[in-house]
Amino acid sequence: MLIVIESFLNAAEVKAYRQRLEATAWQDGLHSAGGLNVLSKRNEQADPADATTSELANDLLRRMGHHPTLVSAALPHSIFPPVFNRYGVGQTYGAHVDAAIMQVPATGQVLRSDVSMTLFLSEVDEYEGGEMVIEGQFGAQEVKLHAGDAVVYPSSSLHQVTPVAQGERVAAITWMQSMVPSAEDRAMLFDLDLSIQALTRGGEAPDELLRLTSVYHNLVRRLAQI
Ligand code: NI
Repeated sequence: MLIVIESFLNAAEVKAYRQRLEATAWQDGLHSAGGLNVLSKRNEQADPADATTSELANDLLRRMGHHPTLVSAALPHSIFPPVFNRYGVGQTYGAHVDAAIMQVPATGQVLRSDVSMTLFLSEVDEYEGGEMVIEGQFGAQEVKLHAGDAVVYPSSSLHQVTPVAQGERVAAITWMQSMVPSAEDRAMLFDLDLSIQALTRGGEAPDELLRLTSVYHNLVRRLAQI
């Protein structure tokens, strides 16, 4: 299941992120590629050891932990510090699957990637090409979102970034270990939670709604691994 979160950052926040990222040190994206992915990854990433980069990564981490849609969709247990990358003309990341087990360099913490998130930091008219293509249950979906929007998808899916033909594509990527490992279970819980939230907006709390809410929490209790 692909979930688009619009305006994860607003226009002013995107602008501030971009300005600060301009001034940081960038390195070859191969620094963080392993195995087969070395063959298909052609991009640059902001040096995670740079103070500005790690400040921005921590800022995003904080926002992720407080974003109701993201929390409901991903039920994050732990989040890998966001990585900022950019693709110039001709750069691309061919079809690949993200590593299942990731180690946070600064802390040595190990997490399983269940859910991936890409936050677009370039506006759609700033570059040509550079679409994200994500393979899902119903075939491949092309994703190119407005600056500040994010897409959340199962880390198990095959995905790629097509070559950038013009301009520059900047994005932040991160991976989450979910309290609920199964993508199918997460999708059902998310649907249930969205429905409960929509019914709650009616302003009344009939017994049926209370029962649905308790079903939601009891399902989480049953499925969550913490
Ligand atoms: Ni990837």
